[in-house]
This record gives sequence, structure tokens and C-alpha cells, in this order.
Amino acid sequence: MPRGLFITLEGLDGSGKTTQLQRLAAWMQKRGMDPVITRQPGGTATGDRIRALLLDAGSTPIAPMAELALMFADRAQAIQEVIEPALAAGKTVVCDRFTDSTEAYQGGGRQLGSEVVTQMHTLICGELKPDLTLLLLPSLEASLARARRRNDRTTQETGTNESRFEQEKKDFYKRVWQKYREIAEREPERVILIEGNLTIDEAHEQIIEAVSERMMALRAKS
Ligand code: TMP
Repeated sequence: MPRGLFITLEGLDGSGKTTQLQRLAAWMQKRGMDPVITRQPGGTATGDRIRALLLDAGSTPIAPMAELALMFADRAQAIQEVIEPALAAGKTVVCDRFTDSTEAYQGGGRQLGSEVVTQMHTLICGELKPDLTLLLLPSLEASLARARRRNDRTTQETGTNESRFEQEKKDFYKRVWQKYREIAEREPERVILIEGNLTIDEAHEQIIEAVSERMMALRAKS
């Protein structure tokens, strides 16, 4: 049985990533595919608990290295419980964030650097890498405004506040944004950059084009 395709979606908070993931999943399901959709942090029972700890705006301070370790603890659980079994069964896995997020947020934003993230990745994830990464990178200003609006809505509706990351200073997000660009430039084969302030439909079109191309290439190889 050929391994499934591992696709990740990346971007700043408020980049429209979650909407695009839902549109992509619907597009795949319409074509008879049965993708496994997951997210990080979260996506497993243990991961959801790690997520709550990481994103709770009222929680006690978390040291940058502890944050990094928790992101990888969540990832280790997801790989064993969800990602590897699905890929081994030939299923396409679509994951909302993966190690690029850690490199951008902890490596760039928290200034831990790329090296430590790469080392942790090798230790925890081994050879596992996305076959295709869709990086949504609208302007920094547009992303931040959207993330703020979304968080205010969630707080009003559910009473929970997941804004710990979104409360970070603008400089932090600038570093995250720049690190994402650096990753895209370093790995143009894997990372498809979806730039600019596109409409939802325009970004969806670019995503579909990239995914279709990658699927055809995979089919031609097998
Ligand atoms: P999201 O799932 O709503 O995109 O939010 C998850 C938050 O966690 C987001 O602010 C990015 C952050 N994050 C990291 O800082 N490092 C990581 O490795 C991952 C997966 C997420």
C-alpha cells in the first residue's frame, strides 16, 4: 500500500488558514477522498490538554524552552496516534500547523533560533516531513486585525480566552512572519507561498492548484 500524502497548512493567526483547511477538506471529500484532518497543538485527547495549557491567556508563565518542548510533546502524541497510522494506511493527512509553526513562533518569534527546532524535529519526528506545505501569508497588518476580531468573538461566545499568543507584541509577529518567509525561500519545492491579501476564493484556487499538481506528481511516480 503506497503511503498517503502529508499536507500541512501554515500561517499567522488570522491568516485565514482554518477557513482554507475546511474548503480544502470539502474539495477532497467531493472527489471521493477521505482525508484525515487534524491540527496542532491538539488533535488527540492528550494534545487537547496540552493545547489548553499552552493557549490559556490566564495561565501561569511558560518559559520559551518549556513552550517548545510542549509543542513537540503534542506533536509526538499526534504522530503516534493519528498521523503515522493514517499515512501508513494510504490516507491523505491534512494538518493545521506542524513543525514550521514551531520554527516560526518559537524559533523566530521567541528567538530560540531555527537550529534547536530542527534538532528537536529530528529527535521527535525522525524523517517525517510534509510532502506539501501551504503557507498563507497575507500582510502582517491584515492578519493581526483578523486574529484580534476572531479572538474577541470567541471570548464573547464561549467565555474562554485563547489569546495568549495573540497578545504578543507586534515585533513578535513580525519575527514570526519573517521566519515563515525564510522557510518558504529555503524550501520552495515543499512550501507553496500564498501571498498578498487575496479573497477566500482566490486563495482556495491557488491551494487546489498546488494540491492537484502534487497529487498528479505522486500518481506518476507510483
Ligand atoms: P491556532 O491553532 O488557532 O492556529 O493557534 C495555535 C497557536 O499556537 C498559534 O498562535 C500558533 C501557536 N503555535 C506555536 O507557537 N508553535 C507551534 O509549534 C504550533 C503548532 C502552534
